[in-house]
Amino acid sequence: MVKLLVDGKELEAKEGLTLLHACLDHGIYIPNLCYLEGMKQPPASCRLCFVEIEGNDGPVPSCTVRVEQGMVVKTDTAAVRRLQVSAFRLFMSVHDVDCGSCPANKTCELQRIARFLRVGLKPGKLDLCLKEPNIVQEHPILDHYPNRCVLCGKCVHTCLSRRGRPSMTFAQRGFNTVISLYGGADSPGSSCENCLACVQVCPVAALALRGQGSCGEQS
Ligand code: SF4
Ligand code: SF4
Ligand code: FES
Repeated sequence: MVKLLVDGKELEAKEGLTLLHACLDHGIYIPNLCYLEGMKQPPASCRLCFVEIEGNDGPVPSCTVRVEQGMVVKTDTAAVRRLQVSAFRLFMSVHDVDCGSCPANKTCELQRIARFLRVGLKPGKLDLCLKEPNIVQEHPILDHYPNRCVLCGKCVHTCLSRRGRPSMTFAQRGFNTVISLYGGADSPGSSCENCLACVQVCPVAALALRGQGSCGEQS
């Protein structure tokens, strides 16, 4: 075990644990979208989990740092919040905010982060830019909503961990990047067993059983 100081509070954490994981375990929330427990090499793609560590030049993503004895960490500096708000607004600039008809409403990680950062679900001064089509129905039983997807990769990682080879992947590049599903158990060559682990791990309801991706009143 190692001891470290986070926001003035002493924590004890298992050696080898990521700083993000240690903080979350001790009830210190740091916004995050792309980290999953057990990831050997977190992708660090969401750029939300920044913290400042004494001795470092600037903020670093806490999912990429392992805890160390004597580490002194601040999770709530102005520089950290600036980076998190900018990253969050970028996500919201490609997000179709329609919480009233979204199954993730009230459990959604974006709503949680917005509340934590005290910002709205709007992209601020950035233009809203949505993808077409709004629903992709390549898979026999799953619908994918690219304008909800935050490209966190949790579905791909979970599928790979369970099956050894994923039934989904990132496709295309840049703004056009999407999650592509290869098909269900009845699709030749697919390893998909329709286990729905990807649906369960998705932080924003960007994957849903066919016809269940929309509910309630329009917001
Ligand atoms: S994923 Fe759903 S609940 Fe979350 S912000 Fe988007 S529309 Fe709202
Ligand atoms: S579908 Fe969900 S879990 Fe998969 S990358 Fe998009 S937001 Fe993440
Ligand atoms: S959780 Fe660290 S960059 Fe996404």
